[in-house]
Amino acid sequence: MNKPVEAHPFLDPRELVVDQPQDGTFLVSRRLFNEAELFELEMKYIFENTWIFLCHEGQVPNPGDFFTTEMGRQPVVITRGKDGQVHGFVNACAHRGATLCRTRKGNQQFLTCPYHGWVYDTAGKNVDIKDHASGAYPPAFEQQSHDLKAIPKLAVYRGLVFGSLNPDVPTLAEHLGGAAKAIDFVMDQSESPLEVLRGWSTYTHRGNWKLQPENGIDGYHFTAVHANYVGVMKRDAERRAQKAAAAGGVQRSFGGDSLLQMKSGWYDYGRGHTLMWGSFGQPQNRPVWDRREQIAQRHGAAHAEWVVGRLRNLLIFPNLLLMDHAATQIRVIKPVSVDFTKVESFALAAREDSPDARTRRIRQFEDFYNATGLATPDDLTTFEACHDGLQGRLVPWQLGYDRGFAQVRAGGDEESAAVGMDAHMSGPDFQDEVLLHGQYREWLRLLAPVLAD
Ligand code: FES
Ligand SMILES: [Fe+2]
Repeated sequence: MNKPVEAHPFLDPRELVVDQPQDGTFLVSRRLFNEAELFELEMKYIFENTWIFLCHEGQVPNPGDFFTTEMGRQPVVITRGKDGQVHGFVNACAHRGATLCRTRKGNQQFLTCPYHGWVYDTAGKNVDIKDHASGAYPPAFEQQSHDLKAIPKLAVYRGLVFGSLNPDVPTLAEHLGGAAKAIDFVMDQSESPLEVLRGWSTYTHRGNWKLQPENGIDGYHFTAVHANYVGVMKRDAERRAQKAAAAGGVQRSFGGDSLLQMKSGWYDYGRGHTLMWGSFGQPQNRPVWDRREQIAQRHGAAHAEWVVGRLRNLLIFPNLLLMDHAATQIRVIKPVSVDFTKVESFALAAREDSPDARTRRIRQFEDFYNATGLATPDDLTTFEACHDGLQGRLVPWQLGYDRGFAQVRAGGDEESAAVGMDAHMSGPDFQDEVLLHGQYREWLRLLAPVLAD
């Protein structure tokens, strides 16, 4: 066995995920949701070892802007330098490690450490050591770098800022693969970069972080968990049909749509990135509808159909869900501990939105995505129910990954071919569960250094 020596014994992968496509078996152990040791390994080998999502460029629009977040267990700060470039650093002073930026966001031309007053510019360079001249420092100190530690890899795609604490990773383009095209479908609803609307929603729930990427692309739960949401939207549409313009309020994108009768599907792009999609029954109610002709002129009819006529939930493993249906959401998954998870939710909007379209976008964001909405509270209740149920370890394996097994296709399909989108696998129904396999395959791949051969 040619593996690096670790302080812990190698894990037996057969006890964690059973992936045997040849006989139609895919099982996930409940240990993945319960064991603190596995959580520590996930932080080290996933969140602190590969590309993860950090923020949207629109959250640091001006020179001097900063935005604080975490990469696994490590605090980081993203800045916009005087040069207009996005930079990223460990948010800890080089001197004695105090956090530098202590608010979620702000604007400073220089970052001054509140502890002993060392000062850095927004590109991370140390520009002042307080009372340096009288400090009687040894030569070895003078020869060391006093700058902030830069995030080793930082790259931006369509406004989305990603970073990796491990410098030895493929390029972001290689990492995203075919999923980049699915990001384009979200971003191309506007000719200019989408803007991040002010404010955000943060919520926490008991339960392991992996409940989030699973649920984010789980079409099968929609009509059960979100029956209330579907019912309210349906009644609103019926009321409008009877009263027409006198109905008042904001016209929603969903209404009399029968989601399960619409064309749908999914793509597995590799590295855990996965898209579930469906057609809108009434795309004319979407905020982007007014720009459909310009989008078709710019990108072609097939691409425009993906942008305007289809809803999508895109998982960029491990911590980003881009959701684009009733409104457009960036959802960031932040593992806190093996049994506690934080989620942050930001709204994206097109600068060209008419006042009506903007109002509809915001109302629909509140309807579905907000922690006070009609959908997210039902999901949160479900996460905690799963967490409690998963303590029943007398049942070792989850059985929730089999729907759609018999209709998996290798590669893409005619819909992806129409826009030149690469995919490793695809399927024709967004209620399929086989689209969840990719994230566990990537989980296994990243944990390979601690798995027995
Ligand atoms: S810890 Fe920052 S100046 Fe001392
Ligand atoms: Fe949900």
